[in-house]
Amino acid sequence: ATTLGAAAAGTGRYFGAAISSGKLGDSAYTTIANREFTMVTPENEMKWDATEPSQGQFSFTAGDQVYNWAAQNGKQVRGHTLAWHGQQPGWAQGLGGSALRQAMINHINGVMAHYKGKLAYWDVVNEAFADDGSGGRRQSNLQATGNDWIEVAFRTARAADPNAKLCYNDYNIENWSAAKTQGVYNMVKDFTSRGVPIDCVGFQGHFNSGNPVPGNFQTTLQNFAALGVDVAITELDIAGASPTDYANVTKACLAVSRCVGITVWGVRDTDSWRSGDTPLLFDGNGSKKPAYTSVLDALNGG
Ligand code: G3I
Repeated sequence: ATTLGAAAAGTGRYFGAAISSGKLGDSAYTTIANREFTMVTPENEMKWDATEPSQGQFSFTAGDQVYNWAAQNGKQVRGHTLAWHGQQPGWAQGLGGSALRQAMINHINGVMAHYKGKLAYWDVVNEAFADDGSGGRRQSNLQATGNDWIEVAFRTARAADPNAKLCYNDYNIENWSAAKTQGVYNMVKDFTSRGVPIDCVGFQGHFNSGNPVPGNFQTTLQNFAALGVDVAITELDIAGASPTDYANVTKACLAVSRCVGITVWGVRDTDSWRSGDTPLLFDGNGSKKPAYTSVLDALNGG
């Protein structure tokens, strides 16, 4: 196959990208995005600050722009994200306790009702674990509402849209030896054993020299999959875009039957949240980089 999406489809998987509503008028951008990708994650448009700027008043203009572009072009959509400490509207940042807990539940219900039956996946909870080597939860206003906030979010989400696959999504959980990875693993194990509805775990895959692609990433994916959840690489970008690193990540997913797909976090380097790292598969001119060829070859079995 000659595109990432078609090559991934040949293995029963999708290949996606983060898409930004503000770039849908850029034909160079949409030409690449439409040709190469079969899954779309709105980069910012479905986050809490975008979808509920005032409490109880939902706004889906930008989210719908991304959703409609994807649907019109035959692509699936991954919703991102419902409950997160980042990109909260100011009104939510000012809440705590039971008021914030109820606001989170209302937010999940409001956004999921709008997209009910339309989205393949939802990142229900994003980045809830700490980076301090403890393996514990990140301190946040949501965590302060009680340790059960994550399972409440998942139970709320299942009831709101039973057709969406519900995912936990995080970064720096690719290395099996990391305490953060073990913390998330133990949570998922606990959820699956108690029947808390969780269908998938997203490994963001933001790699750089300080957080390189671990040699045991495939082991991590396999161990999570063995809990009975799908796994996916959800926000892949690699500083410098080493073709070897990109191929190794792709092969790690292909080696795990429950690894359902790979999403890169942007189209061209110039579209990246960290464009200075040139971490993506297309350069600013829209030309394919060596990393593109290495991913395509890996997907084609090379
Ligand atoms: O929308 C405003 C715009 O009105 C304003 O004029 C402009 C001025 O700076 O800012 C715009 O907001 C920016 C937003 O992106 C939309 O472009 C924010 O400042 C900026 O902080 C925000 O960055 C996003 C970042 O999440 C914030 O947390 C990145 O685009 C987005 O790629 C990044 O994505 C995250 C994932 O959601 C979760 N995992 C990590 C990943 C990378 O940080």
